[in-house]
Amino acid sequence: MKRISTLILVAVALLMPRLASAQGYVPTEEILKSREEFADSKFGVFLHWGLYSMFAQGEWYMNRGIDSKEYAKSMHAFYPHRFDAAQWVSAIKAAGAKYICFTSRHHEGFSMWDTKQSDYNIMNTPYGKDVIRQLADECHRQGIKLHLYYSHIDWTREDYPAGRTGRNTKSLDNPDWDGYYKFMNEQLKELLTNYGEIGAIWFDGWWDHDSDSVPFDWQLPYQYELIHKLQPSCLVGNNHHQVPFEGEDIQIFERDVPGENKAGLSGQAISRLPLETCQTMNGMWGYKVADQNYKSTAELIRLLVQTSGKGANLLLNVGPQPDGTLPATALSRLAEMGEWLEANGETIYGTQAGGYIEGDTLTTTRKDNRLFIHVLSDKVTRIDMPLEGKVKRVIDFAQKSALKYKFGKGRLTMDVAVPADVADYIIEVELK
Ligand code: GLC
Repeated sequence: MKRISTLILVAVALLMPRLASAQGYVPTEEILKSREEFADSKFGVFLHWGLYSMFAQGEWYMNRGIDSKEYAKSMHAFYPHRFDAAQWVSAIKAAGAKYICFTSRHHEGFSMWDTKQSDYNIMNTPYGKDVIRQLADECHRQGIKLHLYYSHIDWTREDYPAGRTGRNTKSLDNPDWDGYYKFMNEQLKELLTNYGEIGAIWFDGWWDHDSDSVPFDWQLPYQYELIHKLQPSCLVGNNHHQVPFEGEDIQIFERDVPGENKAGLSGQAISRLPLETCQTMNGMWGYKVADQNYKSTAELIRLLVQTSGKGANLLLNVGPQPDGTLPATALSRLAEMGEWLEANGETIYGTQAGGYIEGDTLTTTRKDNRLFIHVLSDKVTRIDMPLEGKVKRVIDFAQKSALKYKFGKGRLTMDVAVPADVADYIIEVELK
């Protein structure tokens, strides 16, 4: 009995440091600074690029029951001869985005960098050049942050214990979580030591095991700690559709602005961490040849504005094509968003949620004593909203001209005439 209790004590003692650190994540000064910069940046571009781009059916193609070994043959034809990191980064920067999130390895399991942990990587394609190296160098050169998406799921590696996806892509007989976990951590070490500053690691796939009868232990605390240790200012995010776990620095929402759940992936409560909503420009993340259902520029601008109105960032996705170029429609949308942000970025970057929203037709952002009312529909003819503080003046943001208004008993009221053809009519309220 005594021996058993001693053993238990030893086991508990061995577990303690892990548990203690898991429960006591105290973000460092560097992380707090990164979080603030992230929250101020408001707009990033997501890039889903991998072997799946060649099949042109979106990044989930293999999950349709495609044999992973057959699928892997496509790597011998991966030759994106028109890929030019400088062009991508310039176009994204000109769009007004402040960071890029790139898929280092998606569920298909193919690594887009020179990894020593697996042969299934970009160096063994006829292209043979490290895509992450080129992107990282270019991002650093042009002064834009690089975040890396990293999939916890692997539909090719047999050591990854399959969850509810990828059940017909590989043999399920050889799971080895310990080996797979080690593999992932070694890959993360490479990504965080060989490519200079990385702004964030963006995990995805936790939900693969959300229906297990015995809760699956992803051993996230150690992995998060490892990231923070390797790069003390690197943010950790996880697209698990839950309220943030210990050790995470941002909260991610998929396809919905925080607080809405039209797509069914975002019922979770909103935390106090910096928020990010990821959304597609058309319908798919990875390039899909049939998907030309692009949102209009006005819709995208409104989406960015509504996301900012919630105090969140928009991570807007583009799926690069097999030849290495960004789709022409995506490029023109990005350029137009850039023009809009050039004129109106003051009402977006560095702002906080304004605290007042009317459905899809009106939202607000705020910076110090300036409140920006964004009118998103020409159906709006009158504003009648609660407002704290005292109003100094109200102006048409674009024209810089004074507007008539009434303010009393904590309410701002005014008639509005939304000009034709504007995605967002902005009224600036200067507070005393
Ligand atoms: C989902 C999809 C994945 C995509 C991600 C982006 O998790 O499974 O393919 O990369 O959303 O938000």
